[in-house]
Amino acid sequence: MDLAARVAEAADLVTVALDELLPRADGPESRLTEAMRYAALGPGKRLRTWFALETGRMFDVDEGHVLRAACALECIHAYSLIHDDLPCMDDDDMRRGRPTVHIAYDEMTAVLAGDALQTAAFEILAHHDTHPDGNVRAELVMRLAVASGARGMVGGQMIDMLGVREDLGGVARMQRLKTGVLIACAFELPLVLARAQEAERHALMNFAHDLGLAYQIVDDLLDAEGDAATVGKAVGKDAAAGKTTFVTLLGVDAARERLGLLKMQTKSHLDAFGPRADFLRASVDFVLERRL
Ligand code: IPE
Ligand code: IPE
Ligand code: MG
Ligand code: MG
Ligand code: MG
Repeated sequence: MDLAARVAEAADLVTVALDELLPRADGPESRLTEAMRYAALGPGKRLRTWFALETGRMFDVDEGHVLRAACALECIHAYSLIHDDLPCMDDDDMRRGRPTVHIAYDEMTAVLAGDALQTAAFEILAHHDTHPDGNVRAELVMRLAVASGARGMVGGQMIDMLGVREDLGGVARMQRLKTGVLIACAFELPLVLARAQEAERHALMNFAHDLGLAYQIVDDLLDAEGDAATVGKAVGKDAAAGKTTFVTLLGVDAARERLGLLKMQTKSHLDAFGPRADFLRASVDFVLERRL
């Protein structure tokens, strides 16, 4: 099966599972559950969940367990995007080729849908069906909480929103927090389920951090020179908002050059895994070549 087909297959699995897991309501709170579904079941690339499923396969983890962990991660991701698009943050009207949640609904619904998707993630992880061992579930909850909060995504968003003029090291740190740690979670959660060895965990975490860095540089390049219709969200926003990104600091050509180096470095972390990691190797090319 080729890579694009494998990514699409993983995306379908996750969408079907999320549809089952997310709440539905009959009362007036149905507005909330509809907005949650609009955000989480929309046409995202679902790359984090694909990474999680491939990592689970590499370590022979029960697919049902990994799928639930992947769904939890996707809930956090969806929540982070709803809040990222709000008028008080990036003020974006388009996401995944459709109106953002506060446009399709309203701001208060968007805030609440984000809040409820965040707690839904932990509800999914803490459920017995995610793993029979309560210690494993507690570890999953801990890892996702750390990656999502002040020491992870939310901390990174704060740095981004403050608009501090960062140097390259500062931008790299911001990126690692706002995007990198949640991408790393896509590898970390299956590794917890697999009770993987420390050396394997270490190698995959290094891989994940370089992949996350590459991911954000591509995102910044797409903002600088992508086409809104293809990318499915507004472009040119980072420069207009005076944000410091890899591209505003380095320029397009140097950012591309950096990506070339990063590509080899990222793959090198997989050397010890041999052919077992072929799909993850290919995922590096996939991330670097994406146009949306
Ligand atoms: C966009 O994430 C926000 C970043 C962290 C750069 P994705 O590019 O994974 O967005 P979707 O889920 O495919 O829409
Ligand atoms: C958003 O980064 C990262 C999170 C939502 C945590 P961006 O603001 O660059 O993402 P896009 O470009 O709006 O997707
Ligand atoms: Mg943002
Ligand atoms: Mg944004
Ligand atoms: Mg961006």
